[in-house]
Amino acid sequence: MSEETLFELYENLKKEINYHNYRYHVLDDPIISDANYDRLLKQLREIEAKNPDWVQADSPTQRAGAAPADNFKKVVHPLPILSLANAFNEADLISWQERLIRLDERVQKVSYVVEPKLDGLTVVLHYRNGVFIQGATRGNGEIGEDITQNLRTVQAIPLQLPVNKDGPNPPPYLVVRGEVFIRIPDFEKLNQGLAERGEKTYLNPRNTAAGSLRQLDSKMVASRPLTLYAYAIVTGEGELPNTQWETLMFLKELGFPVSDYSKYCDSMETVIEETRLWAARRDQIDFEVDGVVIKINELYVANDLGFVGKDPRGAIALKFPAREEVTRLNDIGVNVGRTGVLTPYAILEPVEIGGVVVKQATLHNFDYIEEKDIRIGDQVFVKRAGDVIPYVIGPVVDERDGTEHKFAPPDVCPVCGQPSEHISGEVAWFCVNPSCPAQLVRNLEYFVSRSAMDIVGLGIKIVEQLVNEGILTDVADLYTLTLDDLLPLEGFALKKAENLLAAIEASKTRPLSRLIAALGIRGVGEVMAGELAQRYADLDQLSKVTVAELETIEGVGPNIAEAVVDWFSLPKNMELIHKFKSLGVWPVAQIKEISNEPLPLSGKVLVVTGTLEHFTRTEIQAYIKEKGGKVTNSVSNKTDFLVAGENAGSKLDKAKELGVTIISEKDLMNLTGI
Ligand code: IVH
Repeated sequence: MSEETLFELYENLKKEINYHNYRYHVLDDPIISDANYDRLLKQLREIEAKNPDWVQADSPTQRAGAAPADNFKKVVHPLPILSLANAFNEADLISWQERLIRLDERVQKVSYVVEPKLDGLTVVLHYRNGVFIQGATRGNGEIGEDITQNLRTVQAIPLQLPVNKDGPNPPPYLVVRGEVFIRIPDFEKLNQGLAERGEKTYLNPRNTAAGSLRQLDSKMVASRPLTLYAYAIVTGEGELPNTQWETLMFLKELGFPVSDYSKYCDSMETVIEETRLWAARRDQIDFEVDGVVIKINELYVANDLGFVGKDPRGAIALKFPAREEVTRLNDIGVNVGRTGVLTPYAILEPVEIGGVVVKQATLHNFDYIEEKDIRIGDQVFVKRAGDVIPYVIGPVVDERDGTEHKFAPPDVCPVCGQPSEHISGEVAWFCVNPSCPAQLVRNLEYFVSRSAMDIVGLGIKIVEQLVNEGILTDVADLYTLTLDDLLPLEGFALKKAENLLAAIEASKTRPLSRLIAALGIRGVGEVMAGELAQRYADLDQLSKVTVAELETIEGVGPNIAEAVVDWFSLPKNMELIHKFKSLGVWPVAQIKEISNEPLPLSGKVLVVTGTLEHFTRTEIQAYIKEKGGKVTNSVSNKTDFLVAGENAGSKLDKAKELGVTIISEKDLMNLTGI
């Protein structure tokens, strides 16, 4: 290639990368995969390495990001908010170390810290005398956006330091850098709620965090499950730690969340051992990482090493292989949810992504297919990140051969064939047929599940058969089933049928809270159902409640209150209630008089996790409530105790991280005076 052509290629590459940077950082709407982006950047770096005199300030290698959006006040960072150079394998790490030793022989003796590289958004937090005064995005590394109000809504960000009274005195001025992100289970819960209401769902946790932080309405931000890990001190006044490890410890003592997965390593060998552990860990943790960051622990050595462009020499990101592949979109299927929402999904030519064979992926909603111009027959980028369900990023437009065809949202429900409905301005299409078998199947699945009526032996296949045969037309019909209904079904012998009927019969004695949860009212899960069953003796009483009355209950906002009242206002639901009554599915709750005497757990918020020895999950919840405590589902700063049984998982990690008191079943009994 002549020098002229190479230069032209170089200029084009720069433009292309700058455009993708803008799509990613400003619009939060990337159109190429991370892997392809990295490839372009690598190509650019290679050209620049051979032609250093071509490099100018407009090269993407010289920038930390893209220009900030216009909506927020600008903040000039006290020091540039740097980026990181990438390594892709162990050999890259070794040559990084060798390069540094050549520059400064002290590197021979340094130690390191290996930290998760969180896939979120950098934020820069300013504290004056321990008070949170300003928070900004990274922007272009020099100037960011002032998102203080939004960051104040993130529970994990301390507003006052130290958070614990016995923590160290905060420096008079402190600027902390951290990453705002969303945990995968929180992301899934958020998307599930949005989908059920027919609202637009988010693509992935990172995109949600980015979109939320730039919301102009901070009330909206508060409803997003954002969290933070802090990992650096940008600058400050007074005495500051000299090493990265001490920095993390200091931040932790001040009350910032710091990842427990950050590790001190005394040599490059231990760094490499540590990075190898991440191959398995990546799938086990409940947040997304796109690599690990290896930092020289001795900050004075790291600082002396200086920068290359915007990348400090003293730290490097070891990027994990992108879990992204290109495969053919063979077809688009449509699912019908419990609330009738129709959601499209991709039927793919099976492809292995990071050790898992992927055959289906989410397409989010019909607008998404249209916006991204995804066509059946396209080669599409598919991404699998963390434990999130794989999703289609978009088509590889270059690979089209003209045989692809567009997909239109179905005007009838794919299951019942009745016309579907689309409210203009909203993203979702709904099947509004109240007796659509697909909705009934989902309702039944939920009704019999462990956290609802707990009917063992009624799997999805049986449910589908019973609905398709017309034997079940609503959930209450379960209680009319006979041996004659079950025996002709595929795979049913006498014993199995008898066991199932016995299980259904036994479920009639479940407490009222279970039946309320089983109804599947939006926002009314196990905990909320328990609250309702403490105040209303049966479904008749609950069906007469008003929004205003419900809103007086702690934890019930207008959305849940309206969902409950709406549910009971539908004639078909009232019919269902009457049917339950006539079939003897009619639990009655004991309404306790609220006593004035303080109970042992009054005012305390508890979370339960793991397998317990003496209680079932429902029993312990009832017990805690009886003793005046409140049970919630997730650990937060408001949690007083985590009751942990055997095999406790991520809730235990979170509790440790937040410094929540962890107690055993026995401790709980001691506390409550048994
Ligand atoms: S250190 C000089 N540590 O990765 C300090 N960055 O590609 C440079 N990131 O913009 C950053 N987790 O948003 C650092 N533990 C961590 C990180 C981390 C995620 C992000 C950060 C940065 C990007 C660099």
